[in-house]
Amino acid sequence: MCGIVAYLGNKPARSLLIEGLKRLEYRGYDSAGIAIMNGKLHVVRAVGRVGTLEEKLDQLAARGEYDGTLGMCHTRWATHGGVTEVNAHPHRDDRHGIAVVHNGIIENYSALKTYLKEKGHAFSSETDTEVLAVLIGELYEGDLEAAVQAALREVDGAYAITVICEKEPDTLVVARKGSPLIVGIGADEYVVASDAAAIISHTTHAFALDDYNVVKLWRAAGADGQMVYEFRTSTIHNVPVTPKIEQLELDLEQIELGGYQHFMLKEIFEQPQSLRNCMSGRIDAKDGKVTLGGLANFARDLTRAKKVILTAQGTALHAAMIGRYLMEDLAKVQAQTEYASEFRYRNPIIEDGTVVIAVSQSGETADTLAALHEAKDRGALALGVVNVVGSSIARQTDAGVYLRVGPEIGVASTKAFLGQVSVLTLITLFMARRRMMSADHCADLLREMEQIPAKIERILEQAPRIKRVTEKYIDRENWLFLGRGYNFPTALEGALKLKEISYIHAEGMPAAEMKHGPIALINEGMPAVFIANKGRQYEKVLSNIHEVRARGGHVIAIATEGDEHIADHVQDVLYVPEISEPLSPMLTVVPLQIMAYYAALARGHDVDKPRNLAKSVTVE
Ligand code: F6R
Repeated sequence: MCGIVAYLGNKPARSLLIEGLKRLEYRGYDSAGIAIMNGKLHVVRAVGRVGTLEEKLDQLAARGEYDGTLGMCHTRWATHGGVTEVNAHPHRDDRHGIAVVHNGIIENYSALKTYLKEKGHAFSSETDTEVLAVLIGELYEGDLEAAVQAALREVDGAYAITVICEKEPDTLVVARKGSPLIVGIGADEYVVASDAAAIISHTTHAFALDDYNVVKLWRAAGADGQMVYEFRTSTIHNVPVTPKIEQLELDLEQIELGGYQHFMLKEIFEQPQSLRNCMSGRIDAKDGKVTLGGLANFARDLTRAKKVILTAQGTALHAAMIGRYLMEDLAKVQAQTEYASEFRYRNPIIEDGTVVIAVSQSGETADTLAALHEAKDRGALALGVVNVVGSSIARQTDAGVYLRVGPEIGVASTKAFLGQVSVLTLITLFMARRRMMSADHCADLLREMEQIPAKIERILEQAPRIKRVTEKYIDRENWLFLGRGYNFPTALEGALKLKEISYIHAEGMPAAEMKHGPIALINEGMPAVFIANKGRQYEKVLSNIHEVRARGGHVIAIATEGDEHIADHVQDVLYVPEISEPLSPMLTVVPLQIMAYYAALARGHDVDKPRNLAKSVTVE
């Protein structure tokens, strides 16, 4: 959600910034802008993708104004104000040549704007960010770092910002609260970015800012005339902070397309390998044992847990819903799922023995982070199931388990979903073995888990057929996704995938719920995708299929290999290998991901950058 890259170093900033911004474009892509310091502050902004900004910049570059070695840029996901050039970042103050790029929301911007207008300041955009730029300018007395600290003391809300000022042409000031920001430290250069993807081609040496941290990065001529690069970290109250510098564990290959047309397709096809990574070293199928280093110190709490609340948003919530079924069914613990956005504003009951698990790919989702804080404040043990190492949720939970599925760049989550379900299964078995599950039962399930990657490979081989089936229905504007039990959340996920990238209206629901109202929607030729794999409720799902067929609906069934019988009852069947029911969502979801991908492609949409969306929702 908004991508930021800033650079201070010994190389020309322009191409480096644009390259970094392209890597962050999945975070938001409605407009983009850049500011370069070259004697004066030069700013270019454009509505649309980073490519449009680049073209504009190339036309201006001949004038040499954009040749500086200090600069910053931004790709926007609009919050305040429409998608226009005037509202694109960077924003400037009206007095000192200060420029700001920002990810987050300044909640009290309206009150601050009124105050600043009374002081005689003028505004050109509708954004909260311009208010922050003007506030920093209002408080500027010759020290950019001090002005940023003072301004941030007045601000409510979330921010990751980078700030430069014409009067201090060798200084970059950056700060964070609630939205991620990382400082990469190279030889005579700093690269600051919203995430590591924009940093690793320059350096792997970096630190993540904590909330309320401000970092001043600057250069000055040393005694020998050579430029010396320095930085200092403090709080917004100017208390010094020692940052924890770490090696970034990210490989350039992981964030490149590697021959695939889209990141989403690449990530769907990576799932066998990412699951292997996720499970590696955690499963001992011989002894029926799960080892989760992150939870080792909390095994007793989990054994005695009275209730587990799983909280998340979107796809991660669907994974959490499967986690709930697993925990009740296998670990015999009371479990519930909660939209993080609702949980945080309710008055949730957290009794002794409650464990709250925040599930998040990015580890930065604002609602999930806030729910986590609420749970911690009320005394729950707070665990994280997170993909991005060192992210806010990962750092603010008591303990957790990483997904280890590698960076997910496609806006529509796929491999992270599978990683989330896999980790929640492992946590369930970790608990179940300590509660009442036999070693043999656990060993059986673990052996089956080990076979899942190979089974997914078999589903992926069917991609051309899944594409053909999808294309048959591509002109239909309304789809239903129906499942029961463990595969009710899978149905929700199938519907979400289809709607978010193909813009087809799709609803997911428990198959039995259909006849309580939604059945009225079914008309001749309406596609209904049934997750009809073999399991406890198979016969009941078949009855629901007949109800749809009787009303003219066209059924696409996701069924278990060998189930020839189902083909007589539906228009199309997509088979998945046989597997125990609790593990089945890890297979049944895969054809649904592939269907969504090909539906979007057939409709000519930009699969990796669906309209109105952005990866990592860091605003409420
Ligand atoms: C959908 C999707 C979103 C995310 C949701 C939570 O494909 O990706 O629904 O699942 O925004 O994001 P994380 O998992 O980063 O907390």
